Amino acid sequence: MRFSDAKRDQYRILARENGYRSRSAYKLIQLNLKYKLFRKGDVVVDIGCSPGGWLQVLSEQLGSTGKIMGVDLHSTEPLKNVIVLQRSVEDTSLAGDLLEATNQYYDVFLSDLSPRVSGIWDYDHVRQISLSLNALQLALKILRSGGSAIFKVFEGEMANEFKEKISDNFANIMISKPKASRQKSSEFYIVCKNYIRQEIMHSLPGPRI
Ligand SMILES: C[S@@+](CC[C@H](N)C(=O)[O-])C[C@H]1O[C@@H](n2cnc3c(N)ncnc32)[C@H](O)[C@@H]1O
Repeated sequence: MRFSDAKRDQYRILARENGYRSRSAYKLIQLNLKYKLFRKGDVVVDIGCSPGGWLQVLSEQLGSTGKIMGVDLHSTEPLKNVIVLQRSVEDTSLAGDLLEATNQYYDVFLSDLSPRVSGIWDYDHVRQISLSLNALQLALKILRSGGSAIFKVFEGEMANEFKEKISDNFANIMISKPKASRQKSSEFYIVCKNYIRQEIMHSLPGPRI
């Protein structure tokens, strides 16, 4: 193992010691330290949330005044102050259900989506970008004006196109590779601030009659 890999692996040990379900928890901690994306009382959704490392960080940092939703294809062990929907990001009724759950637009949208990786770089890239495009469509429907987002992206040909789509909708875009992300992994994060809501794309659901 190279020195850099050994260093990265420290996060796995740290996660185990500190009771986090995934080493990914440290990626979110580092991103939030740098970009100050969420704070107590925020309404946040985490897409691709299982096993729940990011949700644990949110639960610790937002306190019981915040609203935390998680979405994943796979099940997630329950967590205090967190509601998880076991659904696909591709599900077209998800936006309505997420808005109905909080009855308000979201302050922060997080996506750590990853397909089951095959190891074939191009193939994994295309599948990951396709998931991220679904996540972006969802974010545009449920984020409040001025809200923030993070999208995990796999490097590759289509990443620039994805970045451009995002920059049409957010005033500030930053690219980040937190220290907890393995150097050899192709993932990086697009951190977005100040969502420019073009129009009411998805109104809040009214009461059910
Ligand atoms: C890297 S893991 C997320 C780790 C998580 N952030 C944590 O801290 O524990 C990526 C997740 O994306 C989920 N995923 C993949 N395709 C999905 C889809 N179509 N809809 C929802 N979740 C999906 C996977 O099931 C997986 O749990």
